[in-house]
Amino acid sequence: MENAKKRILSGIQPSGDLTLGSYLGAIRNWAALSDEYDCYYMLADLHTLTVRQVPAELRRHTLMQVAAYIACGLDPEKNVLFIQSHVPAHAQLGWVLDCYTMFGELSRMTQFKDKSAKNADNINAGLFTYPALMAADILLYQADLVPVGHDQKQHVEICRDIANRFNGLYGDTFKIPEPYIPPVGARVMSLTSPENKMSKSDKDPGGCVYMLEKPEDILRKFKKAVTDSDACVRFDPENKPGVSNLMQIYAAASGRSFAAIEAEFSGCGYGDFKKAVGEAVVELLRPIREETERLLADKAYLESVYRSGAERASRAAARTLAKVYKKVGLLAP
Ligand code: TYM
Repeated sequence: MENAKKRILSGIQPSGDLTLGSYLGAIRNWAALSDEYDCYYMLADLHTLTVRQVPAELRRHTLMQVAAYIACGLDPEKNVLFIQSHVPAHAQLGWVLDCYTMFGELSRMTQFKDKSAKNADNINAGLFTYPALMAADILLYQADLVPVGHDQKQHVEICRDIANRFNGLYGDTFKIPEPYIPPVGARVMSLTSPENKMSKSDKDPGGCVYMLEKPEDILRKFKKAVTDSDACVRFDPENKPGVSNLMQIYAAASGRSFAAIEAEFSGCGYGDFKKAVGEAVVELLRPIREETERLLADKAYLESVYRSGAERASRAAARTLAKVYKKVGLLAP
């Protein structure tokens, strides 16, 4: 019985090419969960509008991301793959939740503070209320689990606060979701400034590895990755952030433990180590890149996937939205 399974919802913004960070922190774990759970994986295109986008690029990235989800092993029959803006209930519940989310709590969001510092000329209302829309994404599906990288944990926590507040006022309406943060790969840092997370908005293109990048470019970026003057491969994030980040990436890509990695490279220089990490990442991403490129040639198939995903998602979302509208006192149409 489908309903006996627990639910998962997660999403990624199609605001640029997917990064190694979003792969290791999120998508890679999604496919592994899809046997055990009833999974909804979306493309958070409405969220991208909080930062100015080039319209044609946003469309291109969205289609590419649908292809990449499938190429990462997300079977569109087993998982509901859909685009957020194709299910209007997200914006509808988002508005209701805006009215149950406090100015003070939104002001404390780390991502809002970071993004408003980076986009000082466009601190719009959407950037501020972003977590309420994300809460709507999750709560519409009554999700039990939300697999995300570490940077999204605070947003899942505020979602829980909003749901508890609403349930407290109107009785049980929303399932309270748990974040699922992977043990390795939850915080992939920039290769050139390892104190910052790897991000597609990174000003330095050398710091960020993209999932669909050419192997020679990936190898070059790892070759230039920042390390230290110690010449010792040892896991110590505080004192050796660059080397520790590379170890995390290598561990996530190869399945090896930190102890095994330290033993493998004891007495070697960083050159060999960086080359091995780069090669492991190239091999990890190669089949995904090839499959994404193959899928992108079949636009009709991709369209059929996101259309059917939107239909399936809309059915699940409509039930929660109707319940919420009734509880808050909106007259049924
Ligand atoms: P976004 O698009 O910034 O990132 C997508 C996912 O990738 C993870 N991630 C990382 N993990 C490890 N290291 C990194 N360097 C790294 N960079 C990104 C993120 O933690 C995330 O899991 N607001 C969300 C999208 C969203 C969403 C949702 C997620 C909208 N609605 C509902 C879950 C549930 C975002 O901007 O993620």
